[in-house]
Amino acid sequence: MAQLWGGRFEKATDDMVYAFNASINFDKRLLDEDIRGSRVHAAMLCRQGIISEEEQKAIDVGLEGILSDVNDGKLPITSEYEDVHSFVEANLIDRIGDAGKKLHTGRSRNDQVALDMRLYTRSRIDETAENLTALMESIYNIMKDNTMTYMPGFTHLQKAQPVTLAHHLGAYFEMFSRDRERMHSIRKRMNYCPLGSGALAGTTYPLDREYVADELGFDRGPTPNSMDGVSDRDYLIEYLSAISMVMMHLSRFSEEIIIWNSDEYRFVEIDDAYSTGSSIMPQKKNPDIAELVRGKTGRVYGALMSLLTTMKGIPLAYNKDMQEDKEMAFDAMDTVNDCLVLFSGMLSTMKFNNDRMEASATKGFTNATDAADYLVNHGVPFRDAHGIIGRLVLYCIDEKCAIDDVPLEKLKEFAPQFGEDIYEAISLKTCVDRRITTGAPGKKVMEDYLAKCKLAL
Ligand code: ARG
Repeated sequence: MAQLWGGRFEKATDDMVYAFNASINFDKRLLDEDIRGSRVHAAMLCRQGIISEEEQKAIDVGLEGILSDVNDGKLPITSEYEDVHSFVEANLIDRIGDAGKKLHTGRSRNDQVALDMRLYTRSRIDETAENLTALMESIYNIMKDNTMTYMPGFTHLQKAQPVTLAHHLGAYFEMFSRDRERMHSIRKRMNYCPLGSGALAGTTYPLDREYVADELGFDRGPTPNSMDGVSDRDYLIEYLSAISMVMMHLSRFSEEIIIWNSDEYRFVEIDDAYSTGSSIMPQKKNPDIAELVRGKTGRVYGALMSLLTTMKGIPLAYNKDMQEDKEMAFDAMDTVNDCLVLFSGMLSTMKFNNDRMEASATKGFTNATDAADYLVNHGVPFRDAHGIIGRLVLYCIDEKCAIDDVPLEKLKEFAPQFGEDIYEAISLKTCVDRRITTGAPGKKVMEDYLAKCKLAL
């Protein structure tokens, strides 16, 4: 057992207590951040005349050595240490002796871990933003080739009105672009440096917190209140909340792909590289990746709920409960980033069956609203037109045909306003192309929209 405290204890820690209390098995992933923060802290201590230049150099070389030895596999991080901070300090003292004992001057593990978590989360936020951009690019590439690929738009999973593949995918482009915006705004709001908060009440040493913040890329400077500095995990909750939303979007998209990939729809075919087979049914090619993405949404929500619950009863300032901010959050960060990468890959290799989508859009009375609009344009009040087309649809269901198949004389029995131009007015192309208000699927607005998407990328 290697721990940083013990002076005031008369008995050794119980073995099970030691294991229960330790965080090394999961906080070892903060090694980079811990060492980065420590090097800047030591440099600041030296600038402020708190440690000598020789001591600072020794600390710097020692810390660099620890990092490279761990990365080279020469120095394993074992569970004999309580946490990553103890591991680094103990190894530093082994390497450089007394100078190593000065590193923790003016610092507590409370502000140290607050810094490590913030640095780590910040880089995962950046990674998520990049992965979102890559996914938006994959979506954009499909959209730009499919502004005229007609497909049914659904409400209640019932065919509603025709749209295009570009338009449908544009909805996801919007969701992921909001997600990316959230990454940027969380990053901005969280970019304060907690180091120098000490255990909770700052320190009596003349620390230069501004220097440390600056060196570590915290453009908002040091955290303005030391008690908040050590006990704030809001940024992490915000990130978990934002990635829960990312997962929710990925899950909805996955659900659609699973439906579209089914034999009943066959709108898409997922590439072999992103599908799996069955151990018993030789014919199967399953959309497991989409299903797993949908399934993993639960664990990310779980991490959010877990941290919200952990934080809700904690009095100021640091309490050990906060060590629970790590395992599930790390899992959620890994999950969302893996899901984004895999989903992008699945999407960009997927084949869209344009003929199937278009054929499906011509069935199911997706042009019924347009038929009613036709009558409105010929002077029939909308509510009456709605009733007339409703009866016409009922007739077509009986006759097992589409509105487009009904001869003009028959149409005139439903409403004398029908003329020869009705067929053109309710063709798939017209239905889509006439929808040119902002946000609609018409080719013209879609092209303006695509230009904006390109700019956003
Ligand atoms: N392992 C701890 C954590 O993750 C580090 C901070 C410990 N601080 C303390 N006062 N025990 O929160």
